[in-house]
Amino acid sequence: MAKITFGPRPFQPVKFLSWTSLLLILAVNLVVSVFIANQARQSMLEKNQEFSLLLAENLNHQIFQRFTLPTVIGFGRIELKNPAQYERLDQIVLSTIHSFHVLEVRIYDFEPEVAYSTNAGLVGSRESAGKAVQEALEPGVHSFELVSRISPWWALIKLHLEPESFVLRTIYPLRAERGFDPATGPGPIMGALEFTQDITEDYEAVLFFQVLILAASFASSLILFSVLYVFIRRAGQTIAKRAQEKERLERELHQNEKLASMGRTVASIAHEIRNPLGIIRGTAELLLKRSQAKDDQQTKLLGAIYEESKRLSQTVNDFLDYARPRAPQKGEVDLAQVLEQVLAFWEREMADQNVRISCNVGPGKIVLGDKDLIYRAVYNVLANALQAMKTQGEIRITVEPSPGHWTLTVHDSGPGIDQSARDKLVDPFFTTKESGTGLGLSIVHSIMLSHNGQLHIDNHPQGGALVRMTFPRPNKAKA
Ligand SMILES: Nc1ncnc2c1ncn2[C@@H]1O[C@H](COP(=O)(O)OP(=O)(O)OP(=O)(O)O)[C@@H](O)[C@H]1O
Ligand SMILES: [Mg+2]
Repeated sequence: MAKITFGPRPFQPVKFLSWTSLLLILAVNLVVSVFIANQARQSMLEKNQEFSLLLAENLNHQIFQRFTLPTVIGFGRIELKNPAQYERLDQIVLSTIHSFHVLEVRIYDFEPEVAYSTNAGLVGSRESAGKAVQEALEPGVHSFELVSRISPWWALIKLHLEPESFVLRTIYPLRAERGFDPATGPGPIMGALEFTQDITEDYEAVLFFQVLILAASFASSLILFSVLYVFIRRAGQTIAKRAQEKERLERELHQNEKLASMGRTVASIAHEIRNPLGIIRGTAELLLKRSQAKDDQQTKLLGAIYEESKRLSQTVNDFLDYARPRAPQKGEVDLAQVLEQVLAFWEREMADQNVRISCNVGPGKIVLGDKDLIYRAVYNVLANALQAMKTQGEIRITVEPSPGHWTLTVHDSGPGIDQSARDKLVDPFFTTKESGTGLGLSIVHSIMLSHNGQLHIDNHPQGGALVRMTFPRPNKAKA
């Protein structure tokens, strides 16, 4: 099969699809992992709040039973400025919170002012009583507050957190107890209880879990992306291959249609011209021979008629060769012999144009084909090479073996093939020359097709055009 090689064309949607899928997978995984991590943090906080509430109730009970009641009975009234009372309350609070992660306990009076604190220096201070303390005193609701010394995002990056980075503050109304009868309702409020707990360790565990989820989701995204990428790439390659194949078939179909319609017209016109043209050419040749001796104006005119009619019959023959290609009569053909004949034909023209020929092809390059047709193909390729160089240059011809084939290569030192012409070279009637018919390479192409050969036309890396014609060898022939 004859073919012309072109550069590969990238399939852009593949890149687009794979990158969007990566972003999509990453975004979905990120959202899911942030959601899961938030849920975990929320439930950790709820657990700690439940625990704090139990501790607050226990503190309330211990203070009322072991301090409020005995003090009222013993002293008549509660007066925390009295060191004995303060000492007793301190002992009860410390024994209750012992072994829990409680940083500080305070009791506010109705001022509100710190009436008691495990940090004695704060007694009498009013500054830290906020809205939550007011609400515990009146109407008596408890509340929680998460106090963090570090931002949650920064905490995510840090491997180890300092103690007290995350603290849970609980504010609870301190009530008198009325016994176990629910009908009596809660007792009167005596003050507001506030304590802070260090929950950094629990928070650290949740953060570790969050990092784990993020890492796992990132890794799974990458794996999913790699699998997707492989699939999309394969699909892209298949689509690109099919598109190229379709383009090639369309080109061939287009060419065949052109051939069919033009071929008929060309063939009939050429056929009509050929016979009278033969007579003109023969007569001109005869007259020229008769007046050969004389070097007058008439002989020159006759010479011009003869040369032009010769060129015209060549063109007509080209048309007919193209329009009505004959089936090859195959036999063993020596490429060296064909080259010898073609070069002999072009010898004078090459000398006139000052073109050097480098052709070191020994005999024995036997291929299976029609000698006349192979001659015609090589003739056309050499004609193009010569025409491309105009004046002076070099044509290198080689014949190289490959399994089951001989490849004839013609490399000229001309300007090379124009980029814009590359995919039209073998189209019938495509030419960039003023006097060209554009049938030369079309004929070469169809000859190569009929010989099951291959035609590659490209530019040589060092400049000039490079035409490669690969012919099959007869089965018994050896390299
Ligand atoms: N060796 C070459 N160097 C540069 N361009 C070439 C070469 N061979 C072919 N071409 C380009 O390919 C075109 C088609 O070649 P083709 O032989 O089919 O027609 P042509 O040479 O123009 O006309 P014709 O062969 O009928 O005289 C040429 O017009 C030329 O532009
Ligand atoms: Mg040509």
